[in-house]
Parts: sequence; C-alpha cells; structure tokens
Amino acid sequence: SRYTAIIPAAGIGRRMQSDIPKQYLTIAGKTLLEHCVNVFLCHPLIDHVVVVVHPNDAEAARLLSKDVHVITGGAQRADSVLAGVQYAQETLRSEWVLVHDAARPGINMALIDNLIATVKGTEGGILALPAVDTVKGASRKTQCATDDSDAVPTTIDKTLNRETIWLAQTPQMFKTAALQQALEYALSKKLQITDEASAMELMGVEVCLVEGTAENFKVTKPADLALAGFYISQKNN
Ligand code: CTP
Ligand code: MG
Repeated sequence: SRYTAIIPAAGIGRRMQSDIPKQYLTIAGKTLLEHCVNVFLCHPLIDHVVVVVHPNDAEAARLLSKDVHVITGGAQRADSVLAGVQYAQETLRSEWVLVHDAARPGINMALIDNLIATVKGTEGGILALPAVDTVKGASRKTQCATDDSDAVPTTIDKTLNRETIWLAQTPQMFKTAALQQALEYALSKKLQITDEASAMELMGVEVCLVEGTAENFKVTKPADLALAGFYISQKNN
C-alpha cells in the first residue's frame, strides 16, 4: 500500500490534568481520537489507519471503527510511533506513513492533501506554522516567578530570528523504512526526540515544511479544550 496514517494515542495527558487521557475527552459527541481517525479514514489517498493505544486503554480503543488497526504503544511518544511504523512496514507494507497526534482534532482533508502533494517527491515533510511571536531562547528550564517572590526569574539567553522559526505540527510524513531506521537509531542512542522530523534530521535528511493552520493545534492544557470545541464547530459548519 502507499499511504498509512499512524495516530499515536498512548499518552496519559499529564498536562491536561483530567481523569481520563485527553484523547478520550469528548467534543461534539466524539472523542478527540475519533475526530482524528475519521478525517484519515475518509481521505481517499489514505489506505490504512493505525491507532497506537496504551495497554490500559485497549478497551476504549475497541469502540473505534472496525477499519482501524489498533496496536499498543510504549512509555515515550517515540516508542509508540515506532510500534506503529514497524506495523506499517512489516504488516501493511506501506511505502509512506503520516504520523498524526491524537490530540490534534483540527486536522482536515485539505491539510492532508497539501502535505502529500508537497512531500511525495521528497524525502519527507511536516506541517508547521511560521512563528508569529518574537521567540526568546532561555538557557535555564522555564520556571516563572509566581507566588514565591524570592524565586529567580528565568532570563533571556538570546532572541532568535523569527523569520527562521517554525512551530512543528503533525502529520509528519516520511518513507516508512527510513523513519523506522531513524527512530530505532535515536532510541538506541537515548537521544531526546519529540517528533519524527527530529529523528530524520539526525540522519541528515532534508525535511520539508508545509504550512499548517491554527486549527491544527495540539490540545495540551485544560483551557485548550474549549478552543478545540470552537474550531470543530467551525469545521462542521
Ligand atoms: N503519545 C503516545 N505514547 C506516549 C506518549 C504520547 O502515543 N508514550 C501520544 C499522545 O497520546 C498524543 C501525542 O503522542 O496523542 C502527543 O503527545 P502529548 O501531547 O505530549 O500527549 P501526552 O504525552 O499524553 O501528554 P503530556 O505530555 O501532557 O503527558
Ligand atoms: Mg507527552
């Protein structure tokens, strides 16, 4: 097959602070995960949809469409994605994979069209947004002075050139075999990678940037749920 969507959904959503993992929270009658799955299931170029779930969530995942391949993930996002990529390579024999966060329910057909059209003649690419704010680099881990008046505020190391800054989204699209190799390498070296492109960059691959949209943001913190609901209501109008 040609194109397989992999949806990592094995996280626990610590920053969301909800009782259930954020991908199982409901907006407009469907979970965030279902919103994502449906877009890829409906896309005419996508041959298979693989959802990677936490072993504890296997029951919840059984509610998904019968057309979805459900497998179990690992401790880090990269472990979960690798499980999906191995499945796409060994079981589905898919040439390309598009990895998409379950926590980005604002994905739509046009974004997937643009990504595939732009990336299919290259080594790979991702959706991303050009930065609109001025971006500050800080040498220490962000820890804002709030109630503790004695806390030392974080300081700016340097201001980055905004023209060169893009914020990574998903889907991230790569040749299945190449991504498998890159993830296995990064994990074996215990390198910190928070997306697929980082693993490919380590292999020296040129990764294309395809402009995404604000609607495709990642639901991460409690306040994000209302915004996702707004965008989903716009999408269905
Ligand atoms: N993910 C995964 N396996 C993991 C960790 C994350 O499949 N071990 C998935 C999440 O379910 C999510 C996507 O990767 O769909 C993006 O990760 P993130 O937004 O960081 O989700 P969580 O890790 O669940 O949230 P947090 O970091 O706040 O705990
Ligand atoms: Mg996480």
